Amino acid sequence: MSLDHYYLLGRSGLRVSRLSLGTMNFGTGGFHAAYGKTEDEARPIFRRYLEAGGNFIDTADFYTAGESETILGNLVAEAKVRDKVVLTTKFTNSVAPGDPNAGGNGRKHMIRAVEASLRRLRTDYLDLFLLHTWDRITPVEEVMRTFDDLTTAGKIRYAGLSDVPSWYAARAQTYAEAHALAPVVSLQLPYSLIDRTIEQEHVTMGQTLGLGITAWSPLGGGFLTGKYRPADRGLAGEGRLGDAGQAGPAWTDRDWRLLAALESVAGELGVTMAQAALNWVATQPGIASAIVGASSASQLDANLGALDFELPAELRARLDEAGTVPPASVYRMFTPGYQSWLVNPGVKVGDKPAGYAPPVRNWAPENSD
Ligand SMILES: NC(=O)c1ccc[n+]([C@@H]2O[C@H](COP(=O)([O-])OP(=O)(O)OC[C@H]3O[C@@H](n4cnc5c(N)ncnc54)[C@H](OP(=O)(O)O)[C@@H]3O)[C@@H](O)[C@H]2O)c1
Repeated sequence: MSLDHYYLLGRSGLRVSRLSLGTMNFGTGGFHAAYGKTEDEARPIFRRYLEAGGNFIDTADFYTAGESETILGNLVAEAKVRDKVVLTTKFTNSVAPGDPNAGGNGRKHMIRAVEASLRRLRTDYLDLFLLHTWDRITPVEEVMRTFDDLTTAGKIRYAGLSDVPSWYAARAQTYAEAHALAPVVSLQLPYSLIDRTIEQEHVTMGQTLGLGITAWSPLGGGFLTGKYRPADRGLAGEGRLGDAGQAGPAWTDRDWRLLAALESVAGELGVTMAQAALNWVATQPGIASAIVGASSASQLDANLGALDFELPAELRARLDEAGTVPPASVYRMFTPGYQSWLVNPGVKVGDKPAGYAPPVRNWAPENSD
């Protein structure tokens, strides 16, 4: 199974599987309680992922009010795989409403959060520690200094960001490079055929600055499995979007057309819609890993076959076309069509040929010219 082929995460030496395991639904408390799983229900999902060779596991302090980390800590200890797995968790969301320093990205909360996560996960280090969401106010310099201190203290091995504007990640990485601090190696963002917003800025930023993107909700929370159908006020079907969908996002004609294209591509390949959708995400430019969520071991098992086939260029083009959102405003000026019209008229100027590898520069101040 292709899960035992590991790739480097961003510009780092950390080897990770291209499908990682999302555990937002491990536990039955808090925000994600509606579709949460008990430890006994989570165990077969976790075990199946390990059996397939997967090593990259995602959680957050806030998932199921801390239960996700607690269950994961128990399952990792039980399976005796702490050193083998790449354990990722996140901080930002408040763990004590009303307490101003129990959330956000300030140094006080970051350190409190890492200590609490280590306790729940029953470990003395995190492989990857992510800022969960930009809090709009903490200076980026404070965050990067604290990541660096946590790395030096041995509490975390690598630092990363999730759900931040691309300018923020670029500023964070540039600051770390300029001051020889621990860099950001990963960026966790929503990405799927149904949500391609990050293609506007984040993907190029990640490729340029060495941040491997991990894609969350790669199946759009289950929409891309094809198990839902349009209904009066949203969608209907069995699954976690079935109820939320009624009051949740408005599913548009474009979404249903995309689903029809996905169904026909999957049919031609003889794979499930979920497998085709996951293959597309995991093999898009800049994507290090797709974070797969599953409600059962059998769902996960089916999805883990997503990298066992190649998506031919013609079928990828059909999916690209069906899911594309035409760039608006200033982003129109960065398209190949606009550039060959006004920036490079009459000449072909483009990317370097495949195989060309520019030297990686170390932007420590003493090395810059
Ligand atoms: N950084 C962030 O802000 C952020 C936000 C969200 C998620 N995440 C991470 O990303 C992970 C994955 O997110 P996600 O759960 O939204 O991912 P997803 O892969 O888009 O959706 C997973 C859900 O789709 C349904 N599904 C999956 N495979 C299926 C199959 N073969 N047949 C039928 N239904 C299937 C299941 O839900 P049902 O069975 O209930 O339908 C499953 O829970 C999370 O666990 C978390 O680690 C991060």
